[in-house]
Amino acid sequence: MSQILSDGRLRHLLTLENMPRTMLETLLDTAHAMRSQAMGGVAYRDVLRGKTVCTLFFENSTRTRCSFLIAAQRLGADVLNFDAATSSAKKGETDLDTLKNIEAMGVDAFVIRHPDNGAVARLLNGAKPETVLINAGDGRHQHPTQGLLDVLTMRQCKGKDFSKLKILIAGDVLHSRVARSNISALKMLGAGEIRICGPKSLLPTDGTLNGCQVFDNFDEAITEVDVAMMLRVQRERMEQGLIGSLEDYYRDYGLSAARMQRAKPDAIAMHPGPMNRGVEISDEVADGPQSVIMQQVSNGVAVRMAVLKMLLG
Ligand code: CP
Repeated sequence: MSQILSDGRLRHLLTLENMPRTMLETLLDTAHAMRSQAMGGVAYRDVLRGKTVCTLFFENSTRTRCSFLIAAQRLGADVLNFDAATSSAKKGETDLDTLKNIEAMGVDAFVIRHPDNGAVARLLNGAKPETVLINAGDGRHQHPTQGLLDVLTMRQCKGKDFSKLKILIAGDVLHSRVARSNISALKMLGAGEIRICGPKSLLPTDGTLNGCQVFDNFDEAITEVDVAMMLRVQRERMEQGLIGSLEDYYRDYGLSAARMQRAKPDAIAMHPGPMNRGVEISDEVADGPQSVIMQQVSNGVAVRMAVLKMLLG
């Protein structure tokens, strides 16, 4: 089932892959305009009045779940936070039965996080036709609102023309839905150069990196970039032996202050969170003047307000 209707409107948000540039830019413009109200205020409290949004998370989250809940509340929706850990999913109820039972309580939209690739598209096939689904991260497939908040942050820091930008995405790309959504959005926005760097064992070979420049050596990869986006080492999704020790990983692929100096002087450092400090990024960079990590988090609320408004408003 497509996320875009035949008349061009967005019906669900499953992926940023092949999202038309005009739609991406509309979402970014809307989110940017909503920034001040995303941090509080009542200007948009009537947009989703009478609607109910449920966060249906089968995997842990801090940023995505909280910011969707805040975004829905700042648009005036009723919100329901489903907690898989204390639910009947623990007694063996399937994810689709869970969705359908909560749907029967009068829910208009589900924001879903799931450990399986493609799980949100699968659940869409069992949901009512009028129910809206939003992918909040499915396996290693896509995390579309993270991709949107990341490119919004780049646009705020570097301007709307991506064609001259060199953007590095580094670390555990293999397990990263964040990387996949960012690559989809950056290609569509015409990014000048998308550099990818990580240990060979953590780089996908399924075509995800087509059109990107792939580096093994981090010092080369980061040289003269405008953006350095570090990815979390996802040890919970890793088979044994994919990487050596965490000390070795930091030595070869960690973003230290010395490495950051190889980027352009006005380069920004990004991370989607949660961070493994001292593994993929140092405290000095994460908390330093070039870090825009908290700006990413704030933009998450604005982006999620823009998405909910487009889908339900
Ligand atoms: N960036 C991100 O998805 O963070 P959470 O897992 O905390 O939602």
